[in-house]
Amino acid sequence: MSSTSPLVSHPRQIKSFALRQGRKTRAQQEAMQQFWPQFGIDPRTQTFADCFSPEAHLVLEIGFGMGDTLLAMAAAEPQNTFIGIEVHSPGVGRLLHLVGCHQIQNIRVIQADAVEVLRDFFPDASLERVQLFFPDPWPKKRHFKRRIVQPEFVQLIAKKLKASGLFHLATDWQPYAEHMLTTLSQNSELTNIAGKGQFTDRGDRPMTKFEQRGCDLGHAIFDLKFRKQA
Ligand SMILES: C[S@@+](CC[C@H](N)C(=O)[O-])C[C@H]1O[C@@H](n2cnc3c(N)ncnc32)[C@H](O)[C@@H]1O
Repeated sequence: MSSTSPLVSHPRQIKSFALRQGRKTRAQQEAMQQFWPQFGIDPRTQTFADCFSPEAHLVLEIGFGMGDTLLAMAAAEPQNTFIGIEVHSPGVGRLLHLVGCHQIQNIRVIQADAVEVLRDFFPDASLERVQLFFPDPWPKKRHFKRRIVQPEFVQLIAKKLKASGLFHLATDWQPYAEHMLTTLSQNSELTNIAGKGQFTDRGDRPMTKFEQRGCDLGHAIFDLKFRKQA
């Protein structure tokens, strides 16, 4: 690990995740060993320019969970390169297992805090699209500060998107959906493509594991799409 890496020297204090216990299965462990060199990125030792050509169309997914929907989207959009960031080791192992087995070439995987990676690894105006599907809602008031969607985070996303780039969010937790709508609407660089104060349709994005869980509980699903100015 490089001692000069910004990711190491400026860790965030308040985290949007609680690292869950969870052991990797044997297949996930083997996938880490076998496929990490091909598909993994370590932002502490690699630079953006080491990993991507300037022409690449990059789609970033923050908190991909077990990775099934990221895999499906990458398979459906071979013209784009998908980068998944997740802190949960079994999820990273599982995505690498899926990617390796299916040899999906347009996925790269980062295991780190997405906010630090956005801040320190991605150049400004480098991303076509950012996806944030079913982030931890942190429903208790004393935990609201742990929600990843905060004004500074939205500002960071806006900075990293290319002109006309898209930020797509979804949640099944209505109070968080309203918080997202308010927070994103306050950012002067982003425009709600559904119209002021409106949620949007889900489009053809595949259903995620947490979305299915929400639906099983009878929750409504809220999608938001905000576009950066051209
Ligand atoms: C509620 S789960 C949703 C997973 C998946 N998107 C889905 O819909 O099934 C939220 C995920 O975001 C990850 N996460 C939360 N904060 C993160 C961060 N700052 N960087 C990377 N991953 C994060 C968590 O580890 C967790 O797997």
